[in-house]
Amino acid sequence: MTTPRDLVENALRASRGRLLEHEAMMLLEAYKVPVPPYRFAPSPEEAAKAAEEIGFPVVVKVVSPQVVHKSDVGGVALGLKTPEEVEKAAREMLEKIPRLVRGAEVLGFLVQRMAPPGAVEVVVGGVRDPVFGPAIMFGLGGVFVELFQDVSFRVAPFTREDAEEMMQEVKAYKLLRGYRGKPPRDLDALADIIMALQRIMLEIPEIREADLNPVMSYPRGALVVDARFILERKRGGEPGA
Ligand SMILES: Nc1ncnc2c1ncn2[C@@H]1O[C@H](COP(=O)(O)OP(=O)(O)OP(=O)(O)O)[C@@H](O)[C@H]1O
Ligand SMILES: [Mg+2]
Repeated sequence: MTTPRDLVENALRASRGRLLEHEAMMLLEAYKVPVPPYRFAPSPEEAAKAAEEIGFPVVVKVVSPQVVHKSDVGGVALGLKTPEEVEKAAREMLEKIPRLVRGAEVLGFLVQRMAPPGAVEVVVGGVRDPVFGPAIMFGLGGVFVELFQDVSFRVAPFTREDAEEMMQEVKAYKLLRGYRGKPPRDLDALADIIMALQRIMLEIPEIREADLNPVMSYPRGALVVDARFILERKRGGEPGA
């Protein structure tokens, strides 16, 4: 069993400034954060096999240390329904991405089950301030965060009640409470994720920044489908060093 510590140490030893897609999923699982079933596959053939094990429909995502924004370079193929589609999508990424991102090394593919339809997408982020230490951010996906900066923050350590207030503070909260016949979202499941990310930031000082984006929010439950963890080496284990 790979522990969170192993994941972080391995990445830093390989001089990687972030966890790879599947490593990020493993870290979340270790903190009991719900993620869709997934496999790492080193080749298009293996990706097709992995998809059959997981069950369709699946998503294929490129895994490359040099590719941070996967969808920008055609590195996310959604809603694939057969092994053939999976193999083809992976092959195309293998061919195109090193040309789009010069020198990008494609290590393989994250094959992930499609999250069920009907989600409201939210974002849970983590930052580490040199003075205040870790803080957690919450907002709704897409334009709400990017265009309106409609987000809330709490500096760790904070309580579950704080996590609930964070959600209520954003203007888009109404979308979580149900609107136009859409059912309300499972706020408990979201609070669990906020609290888990807080623990991750408190327990792993090498994580400088975290971005769970998006988190799929449902009337029952939630699923993190993409996570980015930015790492930095701690010198001499000094807090804040
Ligand atoms: N397992 C999944 N099920 C359903 N939809 C998904 C899944 N994974 C990704 N998506 C959709 O595809 C989008 C892009 O995927 P992802 O976030 O993994 O890539 P990305 O390159 O990090 O995107 P960005 O850099 O824009 O955040 C997500 O915002 C989500 O809407
Ligand atoms: Mg993303």
